[in-house]
Amino acid sequence: MAKDEATFPAGGEKPVPAYREPDRQAIPGLLAELHQEIVHSSGISFARFMEAALYHPEGGYYARPGRQVGRLGDFFTSVSVGPLFGQLLAQHLASFFSHQPGPVRILELGAHDGQLARDILEALTQEHPDLLPRLEYAIIEPLPSLAARQRELLAPFSAHLRIVETPHALDPRPGILVANELIDALTCHRIESTGDGWDELGVGLDPEGSFIWKSLGPAAPPLIFGLPSRPAGYRTEVRPQLAAFLAPLAPCISPGKMLFIDYGFEREDYFDPARTDGTLETFQAHRRGGHPLQDPGSRDLTAHVDFSALREALEALGGQVEHFTNQARFLTEIARPWLLKLEGRTDRETAKLLRNFQTLTHPAQLGSRFHIMEASFR
Ligand SMILES: C[S@@+](CC[C@H](N)C(=O)[O-])C[C@H]1O[C@@H](n2cnc3c(N)ncnc32)[C@H](O)[C@@H]1O
Repeated sequence: MAKDEATFPAGGEKPVPAYREPDRQAIPGLLAELHQEIVHSSGISFARFMEAALYHPEGGYYARPGRQVGRLGDFFTSVSVGPLFGQLLAQHLASFFSHQPGPVRILELGAHDGQLARDILEALTQEHPDLLPRLEYAIIEPLPSLAARQRELLAPFSAHLRIVETPHALDPRPGILVANELIDALTCHRIESTGDGWDELGVGLDPEGSFIWKSLGPAAPPLIFGLPSRPAGYRTEVRPQLAAFLAPLAPCISPGKMLFIDYGFEREDYFDPARTDGTLETFQAHRRGGHPLQDPGSRDLTAHVDFSALREALEALGGQVEHFTNQARFLTEIARPWLLKLEGRTDRETAKLLRNFQTLTHPAQLGSRFHIMEASFR
Protein backbone atom coordinates (compact mmCIF):
# COMPACT_ATOMS: atom_id res chain seq x y z
CA MET A 1 0.00 0.00 0.00
CA ALA A 2 1.00 3.53 -0.46
CA LYS A 3 1.20 3.73 3.22
CA ASP A 4 3.67 6.50 3.59
CA GLU A 5 1.58 8.83 5.66
CA ALA A 6 4.11 11.64 5.64
CA THR A 7 4.50 12.07 1.90
CA PHE A 8 1.67 10.47 0.02
CA PRO A 9 -1.22 12.89 -0.25
CA ALA A 10 0.83 15.45 -2.24
CA GLY A 11 -0.68 14.29 -5.55
CA GLY A 12 -3.99 16.05 -5.07
CA GLU A 13 -5.43 14.08 -2.13
CA LYS A 14 -6.72 16.25 0.70
CA PRO A 15 -5.09 15.96 4.17
CA VAL A 16 -5.79 12.77 6.06
CA PRO A 17 -8.78 13.08 8.42
CA ALA A 18 -8.45 12.63 12.17
CA TYR A 19 -8.20 9.15 13.64
CA ARG A 20 -11.54 7.39 13.93
CA GLU A 21 -12.40 4.51 16.22
CA PRO A 22 -12.84 1.28 14.23
CA ASP A 23 -16.21 -0.42 14.17
CA ARG A 24 -15.74 -3.55 16.25
CA GLN A 25 -19.27 -4.89 15.91
CA ALA A 26 -18.60 -7.97 13.80
CA ILE A 27 -15.49 -9.05 15.65
CA PRO A 28 -16.78 -11.32 18.49
CA GLY A 29 -17.51 -14.28 16.12
CA LEU A 30 -14.06 -14.06 14.64
CA LEU A 31 -12.45 -13.85 18.09
CA ALA A 32 -14.38 -16.88 19.35
CA GLU A 33 -13.30 -18.93 16.30
CA LEU A 34 -9.65 -18.03 16.73
CA HIS A 35 -9.72 -18.70 20.48
CA GLN A 36 -11.34 -22.09 19.91
CA GLU A 37 -8.82 -23.12 17.24
CA ILE A 38 -5.88 -22.08 19.41
CA VAL A 39 -7.19 -23.92 22.47
CA HIS A 40 -7.81 -27.09 20.43
CA SER A 41 -4.41 -27.15 18.72
CA SER A 42 -2.33 -25.31 21.35
CA GLY A 43 -1.31 -22.68 18.81
CA ILE A 44 -2.03 -21.78 15.18
CA SER A 45 0.22 -20.50 12.40
CA PHE A 46 0.34 -16.76 11.82
CA ALA A 47 -0.86 -17.50 8.25
CA ARG A 48 -4.09 -18.93 9.69
CA PHE A 49 -4.46 -15.98 12.06
CA MET A 50 -3.93 -13.52 9.17
CA GLU A 51 -6.41 -15.39 6.98
CA ALA A 52 -9.12 -15.05 9.62
CA ALA A 53 -8.19 -11.47 10.55
CA LEU A 54 -8.38 -10.28 6.92
CA TYR A 55 -10.80 -12.65 5.17
CA HIS A 56 -13.21 -14.13 7.74
CA PRO A 57 -16.56 -13.82 5.91
CA GLU A 58 -18.12 -11.63 8.64
CA GLY A 59 -15.40 -10.26 10.90
CA GLY A 60 -12.46 -10.19 8.47
CA TYR A 61 -10.95 -6.79 7.80
CA TYR A 62 -11.62 -6.93 4.03
CA ALA A 63 -15.08 -8.49 4.40
CA ARG A 64 -16.46 -5.79 6.66
CA PRO A 65 -18.45 -2.82 5.43
CA GLY A 66 -16.76 0.54 5.25
CA ARG A 67 -13.80 1.89 3.40
CA GLN A 68 -10.36 0.39 3.71
CA VAL A 69 -8.62 2.15 0.81
CA GLY A 70 -8.39 5.92 0.23
CA ARG A 71 -8.61 9.14 2.20
CA LEU A 72 -11.50 7.94 4.37
CA GLY A 73 -10.03 4.49 4.85
CA ASP A 74 -6.89 3.09 6.43
CA PHE A 75 -4.32 3.41 3.65
CA PHE A 76 -3.72 4.79 0.18
CA THR A 77 -2.82 2.87 -2.96
CA SER A 78 -1.84 4.13 -6.41
CA VAL A 79 -5.51 3.75 -7.31
CA SER A 80 -6.47 6.34 -4.68
CA VAL A 81 -4.24 8.96 -6.32
CA GLY A 82 -6.91 9.30 -9.03
CA PRO A 83 -7.84 7.74 -12.39
CA LEU A 84 -4.41 8.39 -13.93
CA PHE A 85 -2.95 5.10 -12.69
CA GLY A 86 -5.74 3.13 -14.40
CA GLN A 87 -5.48 5.30 -17.51
CA LEU A 88 -1.78 4.53 -17.89
CA LEU A 89 -2.32 0.82 -17.23
CA ALA A 90 -5.06 0.89 -19.87
CA GLN A 91 -2.53 2.11 -22.47
CA HIS A 92 -0.19 -0.72 -21.53
CA LEU A 93 -2.96 -3.33 -21.78
CA ALA A 94 -4.26 -1.94 -25.08
CA SER A 95 -0.82 -2.16 -26.66
CA PHE A 96 -0.64 -5.87 -25.77
CA PHE A 97 -4.16 -6.47 -27.11
CA SER A 98 -3.34 -4.71 -30.38
CA HIS A 99 -1.31 -7.85 -31.25
CA GLN A 100 -4.10 -10.24 -30.17
CA PRO A 101 -7.02 -10.64 -32.56
CA GLY A 102 -10.34 -12.05 -31.30
CA PRO A 103 -11.76 -12.19 -27.76
CA VAL A 104 -9.41 -11.02 -25.01
CA ARG A 105 -9.58 -10.75 -21.24
CA ILE A 106 -8.33 -8.50 -18.50
CA LEU A 107 -8.28 -10.55 -15.31
CA GLU A 108 -8.01 -8.61 -12.08
CA LEU A 109 -7.31 -9.97 -8.61
CA GLY A 110 -7.50 -7.89 -5.46
CA ALA A 111 -9.92 -5.58 -7.28
CA HIS A 112 -11.31 -4.38 -3.95
CA ASP A 113 -14.24 -1.98 -4.64
CA GLY A 114 -13.66 -2.07 -8.43
CA GLN A 115 -12.14 1.41 -8.73
CA LEU A 116 -9.11 0.34 -10.77
CA ALA A 117 -11.35 -1.70 -13.08
CA ARG A 118 -13.56 1.32 -13.58
CA ASP A 119 -10.62 3.62 -14.31
CA ILE A 120 -9.23 1.13 -16.84
CA LEU A 121 -12.60 0.54 -18.54
CA GLU A 122 -13.36 4.27 -18.77
CA ALA A 123 -9.95 4.90 -20.31
CA LEU A 124 -10.37 2.06 -22.82
CA THR A 125 -13.84 3.34 -23.76
CA GLN A 126 -12.37 6.78 -24.51
CA GLU A 127 -9.08 5.83 -26.11
CA HIS A 128 -9.64 2.36 -27.56
CA PRO A 129 -13.38 1.93 -28.24
CA ASP A 130 -12.66 -0.72 -30.91
CA LEU A 131 -11.31 -3.02 -28.21
CA LEU A 132 -14.46 -3.01 -26.06
CA PRO A 133 -16.65 -5.39 -28.10
CA ARG A 134 -14.10 -8.19 -27.78
CA LEU A 135 -13.06 -7.50 -24.18
CA GLU A 136 -14.10 -9.38 -21.06
CA TYR A 137 -13.10 -7.77 -17.75
CA ALA A 138 -13.02 -10.64 -15.29
CA ILE A 139 -12.51 -10.26 -11.56
CA ILE A 140 -11.79 -13.14 -9.22
CA GLU A 141 -13.36 -12.14 -5.93
CA PRO A 142 -13.82 -14.68 -3.13
CA LEU A 143 -15.57 -12.20 -0.77
CA PRO A 144 -19.29 -11.69 -1.59
CA SER A 145 -19.34 -8.26 0.10
CA LEU A 146 -16.59 -6.97 -2.21
CA ALA A 147 -18.16 -8.62 -5.28
CA ALA A 148 -21.36 -6.67 -4.54
CA ARG A 149 -19.42 -3.40 -4.30
CA GLN A 150 -17.66 -4.16 -7.58
CA ARG A 151 -20.97 -4.91 -9.35
CA GLU A 152 -22.37 -1.59 -8.19
CA LEU A 153 -19.39 0.54 -9.21
CA LEU A 154 -18.98 -1.28 -12.52
CA ALA A 155 -22.68 -1.30 -13.46
CA PRO A 156 -22.07 0.92 -16.54
CA PHE A 157 -19.73 -1.79 -17.85
CA SER A 158 -21.85 -4.83 -16.95
CA ALA A 159 -21.82 -6.04 -20.58
CA HIS A 160 -18.06 -6.63 -20.28
CA LEU A 161 -17.91 -7.66 -16.64
CA ARG A 162 -17.59 -11.13 -15.18
CA ILE A 163 -17.08 -11.62 -11.45
CA VAL A 164 -16.27 -15.14 -10.32
CA GLU A 165 -15.23 -16.70 -7.04
CA THR A 166 -12.46 -18.92 -8.37
CA PRO A 167 -10.31 -19.14 -11.51
CA HIS A 168 -11.85 -22.52 -12.33
CA ALA A 169 -14.99 -20.73 -13.56
CA LEU A 170 -13.04 -19.13 -16.44
CA ASP A 171 -12.30 -20.68 -19.85
CA PRO A 172 -8.84 -20.13 -21.42
CA ARG A 173 -8.57 -16.86 -23.33
CA PRO A 174 -5.72 -14.54 -24.35
CA GLY A 175 -5.38 -11.92 -21.67
CA ILE A 176 -3.49 -10.07 -18.98
CA LEU A 177 -3.78 -10.59 -15.26
CA VAL A 178 -3.45 -7.35 -13.30
CA ALA A 179 -2.96 -7.27 -9.55
CA ASN A 180 -2.14 -4.09 -7.68
CA GLU A 181 -1.12 -4.74 -4.08
CA LEU A 182 -2.49 -8.27 -4.01
CA ILE A 183 0.58 -10.30 -3.06
CA ASP A 184 1.34 -8.19 0.02
CA ALA A 185 -2.18 -9.00 1.26
CA LEU A 186 -1.77 -12.77 0.81
CA THR A 187 -1.25 -14.62 4.06
CA CYS A 188 2.31 -15.23 5.23
CA HIS A 189 4.00 -17.44 7.80
CA ARG A 190 6.34 -15.96 10.39
CA ILE A 191 9.56 -17.76 11.17
CA GLU A 192 12.33 -17.16 13.69
CA SER A 193 15.94 -18.23 13.44
CA THR A 194 17.30 -20.48 16.17
CA GLY A 195 20.86 -19.88 14.97
CA ASP A 196 21.19 -23.29 13.33
CA GLY A 197 17.65 -23.60 11.91
CA TRP A 198 14.24 -21.94 11.83
CA ASP A 199 11.20 -22.27 14.07
CA GLU A 200 7.71 -21.32 12.98
CA LEU A 201 6.32 -18.44 15.01
CA GLY A 202 2.62 -18.96 15.52
CA VAL A 203 -0.11 -17.50 17.69
CA GLY A 204 -1.13 -18.65 21.18
CA LEU A 205 -3.07 -17.20 24.10
CA ASP A 206 -1.82 -15.75 27.39
CA PRO A 207 -3.69 -16.49 30.66
CA GLU A 208 -5.91 -13.40 30.12
CA GLY A 209 -6.95 -14.65 26.67
CA SER A 210 -4.89 -12.14 24.64
CA PHE A 211 -3.15 -13.31 21.47
CA ILE A 212 0.62 -13.72 21.82
CA TRP A 213 3.45 -14.97 19.63
CA LYS A 214 4.19 -18.63 20.31
CA SER A 215 6.87 -20.91 18.86
CA LEU A 216 5.33 -23.88 17.03
CA GLY A 217 8.64 -25.77 16.85
CA PRO A 218 10.83 -26.41 13.78
CA ALA A 219 9.43 -24.84 10.59
CA ALA A 220 8.26 -27.25 7.88
CA PRO A 221 10.81 -27.58 5.01
CA PRO A 222 8.69 -25.71 2.36
CA LEU A 223 8.71 -22.63 4.62
CA ILE A 224 12.48 -22.36 4.82
CA PHE A 225 13.62 -23.80 1.50
CA GLY A 226 16.53 -21.75 0.07
CA LEU A 227 16.65 -19.32 3.00
CA PRO A 228 20.03 -17.93 4.10
CA SER A 229 21.02 -18.69 7.69
CA ARG A 230 20.57 -15.84 10.14
CA PRO A 231 21.50 -15.27 13.81
CA ALA A 232 19.19 -16.57 16.56
CA GLY A 233 16.18 -14.29 17.11
CA TYR A 234 16.03 -13.00 13.49
CA ARG A 235 12.37 -12.95 12.42
CA THR A 236 10.92 -12.75 8.94
CA GLU A 237 7.91 -13.71 6.81
CA VAL A 238 7.54 -16.24 3.97
CA ARG A 239 4.80 -17.14 1.48
CA PRO A 240 5.44 -20.74 0.43
CA GLN A 241 2.08 -20.93 -1.35
CA LEU A 242 2.84 -18.58 -4.25
CA ALA A 243 3.21 -21.17 -7.03
CA ALA A 244 0.11 -23.09 -5.88
CA PHE A 245 -1.83 -19.81 -5.73
CA LEU A 246 -0.80 -18.76 -9.25
CA ALA A 247 -1.11 -22.18 -10.93
CA PRO A 248 -4.88 -22.10 -11.64
CA LEU A 249 -4.62 -18.50 -12.90
CA ALA A 250 -2.21 -19.17 -15.77
CA PRO A 251 -4.77 -21.01 -17.98
CA CYS A 252 -7.20 -18.07 -17.62
CA ILE A 253 -4.87 -15.80 -19.60
CA SER A 254 -3.55 -18.20 -22.18
CA PRO A 255 -1.52 -16.93 -24.00
CA GLY A 256 -0.91 -13.81 -22.01
CA LYS A 257 0.81 -11.99 -19.22
CA MET A 258 0.68 -11.55 -15.46
CA LEU A 259 1.41 -8.09 -14.12
CA PHE A 260 2.00 -7.60 -10.40
CA ILE A 261 2.51 -4.22 -8.79
CA ASP A 262 3.54 -4.18 -5.17
CA TYR A 263 6.10 -3.14 -2.59
CA GLY A 264 8.92 -5.45 -1.67
CA PHE A 265 12.46 -6.49 -2.40
CA GLU A 266 14.52 -9.14 -4.10
CA ARG A 267 15.78 -11.89 -1.81
CA GLU A 268 19.09 -10.32 -0.84
CA ASP A 269 17.34 -7.21 0.46
CA TYR A 270 14.33 -9.05 1.82
CA PHE A 271 16.50 -11.17 4.12
CA ASP A 272 19.03 -8.41 4.78
CA PRO A 273 20.84 -9.20 8.07
CA ALA A 274 19.78 -5.78 9.39
CA ARG A 275 16.06 -6.46 8.80
CA THR A 276 15.81 -8.44 12.03
CA ASP A 277 12.03 -8.23 12.49
CA GLY A 278 10.72 -8.79 8.96
CA THR A 279 8.29 -6.48 7.21
CA LEU A 280 4.97 -7.34 8.84
CA GLU A 281 2.97 -4.12 9.32
CA THR A 282 -0.49 -3.04 10.38
CA PHE A 283 -2.49 -0.05 9.17
CA GLN A 284 -5.45 1.65 10.73
CA ALA A 285 -6.73 5.13 9.89
CA HIS A 286 -3.45 5.91 8.07
CA ARG A 287 -1.32 5.00 11.06
CA ARG A 288 1.10 2.14 11.05
CA GLY A 289 2.50 0.34 14.02
CA GLY A 290 -0.37 -1.31 15.90
CA HIS A 291 0.39 -4.79 17.22
CA PRO A 292 -0.39 -7.40 14.51
CA LEU A 293 -2.15 -9.68 17.00
CA GLN A 294 -4.34 -7.01 18.58
CA ASP A 295 -8.02 -6.67 17.57
CA PRO A 296 -8.00 -9.01 14.55
CA GLY A 297 -10.39 -7.74 11.89
CA SER A 298 -10.03 -4.10 12.86
CA ARG A 299 -6.76 -3.34 11.05
CA ASP A 300 -4.94 -4.23 7.90
CA LEU A 301 -2.08 -6.72 8.03
CA THR A 302 0.53 -6.78 5.30
CA ALA A 303 4.05 -7.99 4.61
CA HIS A 304 6.33 -6.96 1.75
CA VAL A 305 6.70 -9.13 -1.33
CA ASP A 306 9.78 -11.29 -1.84
CA PHE A 307 10.08 -10.63 -5.58
CA SER A 308 12.65 -13.41 -5.99
CA ALA A 309 10.08 -15.88 -4.64
CA LEU A 310 7.45 -14.41 -6.98
CA ARG A 311 9.84 -14.75 -9.94
CA GLU A 312 10.56 -18.40 -9.02
CA ALA A 313 6.84 -19.15 -8.71
CA LEU A 314 6.12 -17.58 -12.12
CA GLU A 315 8.99 -19.48 -13.74
CA ALA A 316 7.94 -22.75 -12.13
CA LEU A 317 4.62 -22.35 -13.97
CA GLY A 318 6.33 -21.78 -17.32
CA GLY A 319 6.18 -17.98 -17.18
CA GLN A 320 9.01 -15.81 -18.42
CA VAL A 321 9.67 -12.67 -16.43
CA GLU A 322 10.05 -9.91 -19.02
CA HIS A 323 10.09 -6.84 -16.81
CA PHE A 324 11.05 -6.14 -13.25
CA THR A 325 11.39 -2.46 -12.60
CA ASN A 326 10.16 0.26 -10.31
CA GLN A 327 6.84 2.01 -10.79
CA ALA A 328 8.55 5.27 -11.83
CA ARG A 329 10.30 3.69 -14.82
CA PHE A 330 7.34 1.56 -15.78
CA LEU A 331 4.76 4.37 -15.77
CA THR A 332 7.11 6.97 -17.29
CA GLU A 333 7.72 4.70 -20.28
CA ILE A 334 3.98 4.23 -20.81
CA ALA A 335 3.28 7.93 -20.26
CA ARG A 336 5.85 9.26 -22.76
CA PRO A 337 3.38 10.06 -25.61
CA TRP A 338 0.87 11.50 -23.11
CA LEU A 339 3.51 13.72 -21.50
CA LEU A 340 4.57 15.01 -24.93
CA LYS A 341 0.96 15.94 -25.71
CA LEU A 342 0.72 17.94 -22.47
CA GLU A 343 3.84 19.99 -23.16
CA GLY A 344 3.20 23.72 -23.01
CA ARG A 345 -0.24 23.39 -21.38
CA THR A 346 -0.70 25.48 -18.26
CA ASP A 347 -4.38 24.94 -17.39
CA ARG A 348 -5.44 23.74 -13.93
CA GLU A 349 -6.58 20.31 -15.12
CA THR A 350 -3.16 19.63 -16.67
CA ALA A 351 -1.41 20.87 -13.53
CA LYS A 352 -3.50 18.45 -11.44
CA LEU A 353 -2.75 15.50 -13.73
CA LEU A 354 0.94 16.27 -13.60
CA ARG A 355 0.81 16.41 -9.80
CA ASN A 356 -0.87 12.99 -9.82
CA PHE A 357 1.79 11.68 -12.20
CA GLN A 358 4.47 12.98 -9.85
CA THR A 359 2.87 11.25 -6.87
CA LEU A 360 2.85 7.96 -8.77
CA THR A 361 6.41 8.25 -10.03
CA HIS A 362 8.52 10.47 -7.76
CA PRO A 363 11.13 8.38 -5.90
CA ALA A 364 10.20 10.05 -2.60
CA GLN A 365 6.54 9.14 -3.10
CA LEU A 366 5.38 5.97 -4.88
CA GLY A 367 7.91 5.78 -7.71
CA SER A 368 10.61 3.73 -6.06
CA ARG A 369 8.63 2.04 -3.28
CA PHE A 370 6.52 0.09 -5.77
CA HIS A 371 7.82 -2.41 -8.30
CA ILE A 372 6.21 -4.16 -11.21
CA MET A 373 6.94 -7.69 -12.26
CA GLU A 374 5.51 -8.79 -15.59
CA ALA A 375 5.73 -12.33 -16.91
CA SER A 376 4.54 -13.77 -20.20
CA PHE A 377 2.84 -17.15 -20.60
CA ARG A 378 2.66 -18.81 -24.01
C1 LIG B 1 -4.34 -3.90 -0.38
S1 LIG B 1 -5.86 -4.27 -1.10
C2 LIG B 1 -5.55 -3.64 -2.74
C3 LIG B 1 -6.78 -3.08 -3.37
C4 LIG B 1 -6.66 -2.53 -4.78
N1 LIG B 1 -6.02 -3.47 -5.69
C5 LIG B 1 -5.91 -1.21 -4.81
O1 LIG B 1 -4.79 -1.19 -5.25
O2 LIG B 1 -6.49 -0.21 -4.35
C6 LIG B 1 -5.74 -6.02 -1.30
C7 LIG B 1 -6.95 -6.66 -1.89
O3 LIG B 1 -6.61 -8.01 -2.24
C8 LIG B 1 -7.76 -8.81 -2.00
N2 LIG B 1 -7.36 -10.24 -1.97
C9 LIG B 1 -6.60 -10.87 -1.07
N3 LIG B 1 -6.48 -12.18 -1.36
C10 LIG B 1 -7.19 -12.38 -2.49
C11 LIG B 1 -7.45 -13.53 -3.30
N4 LIG B 1 -6.97 -14.73 -3.00
N5 LIG B 1 -8.21 -13.38 -4.39
C12 LIG B 1 -8.72 -12.16 -4.73
N6 LIG B 1 -8.52 -11.04 -4.00
C13 LIG B 1 -7.76 -11.15 -2.89
C14 LIG B 1 -8.30 -8.24 -0.71
O4 LIG B 1 -9.65 -8.62 -0.49
C15 LIG B 1 -8.15 -6.74 -0.96
O5 LIG B 1 -9.29 -6.23 -1.59
